[in-house]
Amino acid sequence: MDLSGKHLVLGLTGGIACYKAAELCRALIREGATVQVVMTAAAEQFITPVTMQALSNRPVFTSQWDARDVNNMPHINLGREADAILIAPCSADFMARLVQGAADDLLSLMCLARPIAKVPLLLAPAMNREMWAHPATQRNLAQLRRDGTAILGVANGDQACGETGDGRMLEPADLVQDVIAFFRPKLLAGHQVLVTAGPTYEAIDPVRGITNLSSGKMGFAVARAAQEAGARVTLVAGPVSLATPRGVSRIDVRSAQDMYAATLEHVAGASIFIATAAVADWRPANAAEHKIKKDGSGASPQLRFIENPDILAAVAGLDRAKSGELLCVGFAAESQDLLANAQAKRIRKNIPLLVGNIGPAAFGKDDNALLLVTADGVRELERASKLELARELIAACAKFERANARHSGVPA
Ligand code: C5P
Repeated sequence: MDLSGKHLVLGLTGGIACYKAAELCRALIREGATVQVVMTAAAEQFITPVTMQALSNRPVFTSQWDARDVNNMPHINLGREADAILIAPCSADFMARLVQGAADDLLSLMCLARPIAKVPLLLAPAMNREMWAHPATQRNLAQLRRDGTAILGVANGDQACGETGDGRMLEPADLVQDVIAFFRPKLLAGHQVLVTAGPTYEAIDPVRGITNLSSGKMGFAVARAAQEAGARVTLVAGPVSLATPRGVSRIDVRSAQDMYAATLEHVAGASIFIATAAVADWRPANAAEHKIKKDGSGASPQLRFIENPDILAAVAGLDRAKSGELLCVGFAAESQDLLANAQAKRIRKNIPLLVGNIGPAAFGKDDNALLLVTADGVRELERASKLELARELIAACAKFERANARHSGVPA
């Protein structure tokens, strides 16, 4: 429930994407928010206030002349109560009206009358691709950004009009992630974070290989938490079937050697490297070019292995890491003696922060428990969702960065 205690005004303007606003309303409420719906007259052409009232469990406001509030000023009252106003869908016309400071219907009036420093305005535009690309719309977008409005972006794909391109409203699940991220403290603003995640796959032949039970969930949660904290995030992911966290740039790899190459290619601008991947320690020395066949004799193939490069050790050995400009964080998945093993691994890997967890209790699960081991001691993070733990880990990294003032140009 990442939006507990948050009160949102959800504004609907005219567009076919209004049908997605119903699902969005439910999804925001599922995350713990209370949602007050305000609709323009055009939005009412696409979806009824009855639907939105039933889903939000609150009467919907549609007119500045609505006399239900005792002071007869819904445009003041609604904005004052909100932690944020989210307009989804936001039409091209409504964007133009916001730029102009128009105030001739309840929603635009409320946006203009809101305490601008206290009640942020978030827009999820939705329109035909030509309307989106039009210089007038792009000019309005730039002006809205200058006015401090958060533009959540648009999706690319099939449009209701039959055309294909940019301008679709983002899916409700994406918008919810964006709203949650919007409220998170920006502890890593200005930072670039590189994360490895998931297992690796080491080929035996074209159809078989060796891998492990890592699901990638912890690493994906770390990438999401870093992005929510305001960092630019690159995620090097082994073979997993997880959705990429919003705003994260993802590079898919298969083998440890691929992961090694991708990591070293992208580490240049990073200030933090978090190695959550469960990298295979060995790979078959020579992967067969064709499928290895049974020959009927009962003999099994004799596999020889060679050791994979240690990605974390290689990154921790870079001059930038040694001089403290690049914070390296490792993970240790143990099956016993977690504390002793994690402490020993931190020293062996020569890194400032090592995160210990019990592999069998972590792999594939949605929750986990962590030990944060530094030179100063150990902090235990009790069992919680991987996202909550990832947020704690990111806060610990931010603290590390502040304490060491590692970075020129990055706010300490
Ligand atoms: O040595 P061990 O595999 O237990 O160390 C685990 C840590 O090292 C993890 O952070 C993992 O991502 C990283 N690692 C790596 N490359 C390897 C092996 C482990 O980056 N080849």
